[in-house]
This record gives sequence, C-alpha cells and structure tokens, in this order.
Amino acid sequence: MRILLCNRDDRPVDAWLRDLHRLLPEAQVDVWRPGLPPEYDYALVWGPPQQLFDEQPQLKAAFNLGAGVDRLLALRLPPGLQVLRLEDAGMGVQMAEYVCHALIRFFREFDAYDRQQQASDWTLRPPRSRADCPVGIMGLGVLGTRVAQAVRQFEFPLLGWSRSRRDLPGMRCFAGDGELDDFLAAARVLVCLLPLTEATHGILNRARLARLRPGAYLINLARGALVVEDDLREQLDQGHLAGATLDVVRQEPLPPGHWLWAHPRVTLTPHISGMTVREDALRQVAQGVRALERGGDAPSGLVQRARGY
Ligand code: NAP
Ligand code: GLV
Repeated sequence: MRILLCNRDDRPVDAWLRDLHRLLPEAQVDVWRPGLPPEYDYALVWGPPQQLFDEQPQLKAAFNLGAGVDRLLALRLPPGLQVLRLEDAGMGVQMAEYVCHALIRFFREFDAYDRQQQASDWTLRPPRSRADCPVGIMGLGVLGTRVAQAVRQFEFPLLGWSRSRRDLPGMRCFAGDGELDDFLAAARVLVCLLPLTEATHGILNRARLARLRPGAYLINLARGALVVEDDLREQLDQGHLAGATLDVVRQEPLPPGHWLWAHPRVTLTPHISGMTVREDALRQVAQGVRALERGGDAPSGLVQRARGY
C-alpha cells in the first residue's frame, strides 16, 4: 500500500511520518512533491495543490487532515475519488472550550469589567437574565453537538439548526431553510458551526443577522465565507449586534489594516478554535485506510461530495 502525505500549512512533517509508520507499518509513505509516478493508493492532505490530483488520478481515497472539506472539494478531483474527513479527532473539546469562553465572557460582561479595572472602578453591573440569552447553534454535526453538550452545563436555553431534523436533549431543534428565520429570531448568541458549501456561503448576511434578538452576539468558528463581513460591520455599528468573536475570516491571514483588526466589538483569533491533534487524526486515518482495504460498509468520515460536506 502506498500513501502520499501532503500537509501544507507548515505542519512539521517528521512527526507525521513517524506516527504513520507506527500506525500503518505495512504502508510505504512518501511526502508529496511534483512529478511522483501515479502509483499511490491514498493521499493524506491539508491544503493540497491541484497538481497532486492531476498527477495521481488513480488514488482510491483522499483523507482530509481537518474537519472542513471546502478547500479540498473546490479542487478538480477525480470523479470516483472517495473523500474522508476528520470527525472530532480531538477538535470537539477545543471547540467546546472556545465557545464557552466567548459565551461567558459576553454574558458576564468581562470586557466591561476589564475596562472598569483600567479605570479603578468597583461598580457592580446588574445581573443578566439567562432566560433572555438563548444560545443558537447553527450546524448540529460532530462539532455542533459537542459544543451543545458543553453549553448545556451552563443552563442557557439552547436552540439548534441543521439541514435534517435532529432531536437533542434540552435543545429546541429547527431544521431546513423554512425554519431558519424562526431559529434566528429566537437566538441571542449565535454559534456558527456549519460547513462551507454552496448552500451556506454568505448565509449570515444583513437580513439574517438582523433577525437575531437585539444585542445579539456572534461566535463564528466554522469558515469566514459563511458571513458577509460588510453586513456584520453594519449590524455591529448600528448596535443590533453587541459583538462578535471570530476565529475565521474570509481572507486568512487577515490583511493588515482590515477593519476587523480594530473594531471595538470584535474579538479575533487566527483560526485556532479546533486544531488538528496529530495522534488522534492519524489514528482515525489508519482506521479509515483499514476499513477501505477491507471493503464492505462505508467508512466513518466519508464525505458526500455532491452535497459538499
Ligand atoms: P458536520 O459533522 O458535517 O456537521 C455539519 C452540520 O451542519 C450538520 O448538522 C448539517 O446538517 C449542518 N448543515 C450542513 N449544511 C446545512 C444547510 N445547508 N442547512 C442547515 N444545516 C446544514 O461538520 P463538523 O465536523 O461539525 O464541522 C463543522 C465545520 O466546522 C467544518 O465544516 C469546518 O468548516 C469547521 N471547523 C473549523 C475549525 C476551526 O479551527 N476553526 C476546526 C474544525 C472544523 P445535517 O445534520 O442535517 O447533515
Ligand atoms: C479546520 O479548520 C478544520 O476544518 O479542521
């Protein structure tokens, strides 16, 4: 069995090769470079170039070393190529931490207390009502449900929206385009964990952000292009949105001078909310490779290319 590793984004390659040899000792693993002969079975990729797939049309499957497959599916892939993605693989708990941190920081007004400390101001702010702060999670997949599980501990009213109907404990679940407006209108904090697809590109536009309760707060940890950033700015400047925590933006890295860097109501992080954990990721890949080699049932993490996630 021959495996190609093409792990861009500056991940040091030695540790990946070492762990792959340990988990799949029977495999020959090579780091991708242009011009390799078309004799590989599987590719493990993050941010691969088009050239890899042009030169390796015989690949049986590509394993995406992340959860989101939008960049990979944007390439011209061989029609029969199976695409698999990471499911949780250590990212769920990171997402849960990230959302709980941003949510509680907003709800308990820690930014305001920071400013008060700067001004030696010992004023108590009136407590806020949890009932007035429903948390809506867009995307109830692997990561959305893990985040919901964590948020539930803090007893906020919980709402969720997905394509197909879900039934999750303690959550009011909405499904499909027809229920999106009702979902948004009920939420004060909106957590976005949707995949970026044709159907979700720009989904958080002016009209949709305006449907959220006044003083709403956006937490986007999925992909920047889900949000129309100029519309977000408008809603922030008009005060309809109290603020936003963004782990992802349309152009990454965010260019110097971009308005998001300096907006007083925006908290930014550089796409770190759910980082790939090498050991967990490779364990999942090894299981996937073995499942494909055995044949039979569809392996876990198989992407439905036609629907985009
Ligand atoms: P997932 O398991 O595939 O879940 C996707 C969820 O979104 C599902 O509930 C799905 O509905 C819903 N959905 C998809 N298209 C929809 C539509 N058109 N309308 C309504 N709901 C729709 O994905 P995941 O593993 O939770 O990951 C979610 C995303 O997080 C990834 O795609 C990636 O972009 C992002 N991510 C970001 C980071 C980071 O560091 N910032 C790290 C990891 C992942 P159904 O349940 O009906 O299928
Ligand atoms: C990171 O953004 C991922 O999709 O895993």
